[in-house]
Amino acid sequence: MPYMRKTVHLQQLTTFHIGGAPVRYVHPRTEAGLLAALAECRRASLPWRVLGGGSNLLVDEGRLPYAVIHVHAPGLDTVERTSEASVRVGAGLPSGRLLTYCRDAGLGGLEFMAALPGTVGGAVAGNAGAWGKEVCNMVSRLRVITPEGKVAVIPHAEIEYSYRQTKLRGAVITEAEFHLDPRDPRLIGLQMTEYARARCERHPMSERSAGCVFKNPPGVSAGKLLDECGLKGLKMGDAEVSVHHANFIVNRGKAAAADVLRLIEVMRAAVRNAFGIELELEVRHWPARANVA
Ligand code: EPU
Repeated sequence: MPYMRKTVHLQQLTTFHIGGAPVRYVHPRTEAGLLAALAECRRASLPWRVLGGGSNLLVDEGRLPYAVIHVHAPGLDTVERTSEASVRVGAGLPSGRLLTYCRDAGLGGLEFMAALPGTVGGAVAGNAGAWGKEVCNMVSRLRVITPEGKVAVIPHAEIEYSYRQTKLRGAVITEAEFHLDPRDPRLIGLQMTEYARARCERHPMSERSAGCVFKNPPGVSAGKLLDECGLKGLKMGDAEVSVHHANFIVNRGKAAAADVLRLIEVMRAAVRNAFGIELELEVRHWPARANVA
């Protein structure tokens, strides 16, 4: 069998440590395995969702009426230097492993991702960013499986990405090729350390969270607005607005998805009432209900 199927609770696979069990969980180890898993879902008319590192995600509890395809190492995690300044990477590779590879190979450009959780596929699918830089700017092409089950290559010019968003139209990323900048490995290492330190200073890295809850509205930090509303430390059950950074919700123990969702609505309402700004969710929410394709 080219992929593994078993029962899992997404609580174990998300950085929030919240989430129920999908009707089908598949962990493909190869592109052929991924193609087979998607074909099976199509044949069974079963909707599916792709899980990477589980780091930007809020999943409801209970039985989830869709298949979850886990694109994560081991499997789909190859790294190969394709030219002096390019590297081709499997979507399941954890971002941290890509950064270590790039540092050792003397390939600069991705240092801003230091200490970002998640996989390469997840980073590209959500156009992850920090310090004014975005992952998709560095991607020269993507290899994907289309919703019809065909392998396709998307060149940079055809990747539709914007702030924290990439339009994949149902395609699943299997590989990304990055165009990088050959540089002294020591300098790359120093920059990575600096970015990681800055991230750890600002964000509650050691706690259970899903990263920034809301996107930043144009020209302003959602965290600053939420902080000015006095929301740090506000709790619903075990879900709490981080006392370190107000755009993070942390799971202090056994938070339920419903606790997090209630807190999200309180945070949104507070910023709406105080500033007239409607915050947009950055964290993705996977509900436990029918018609979720
Ligand atoms: N601030 C407060 N109180 C808070 C949080 C922030 O006053 O509770 C202030 C800070 O002091 C600073 C300003 O707001 O003056 C901006 O804060 P920060 O540097 O933490 O950046 P951010 O705008 O909150 C963004 C991204 C982060 C990214 C950092 C670093 C979004 C939604 N957030 O955060 O990305 O890591 O910049 O570049 O775009 C994510 O996408 O999950 C994420 C965390």
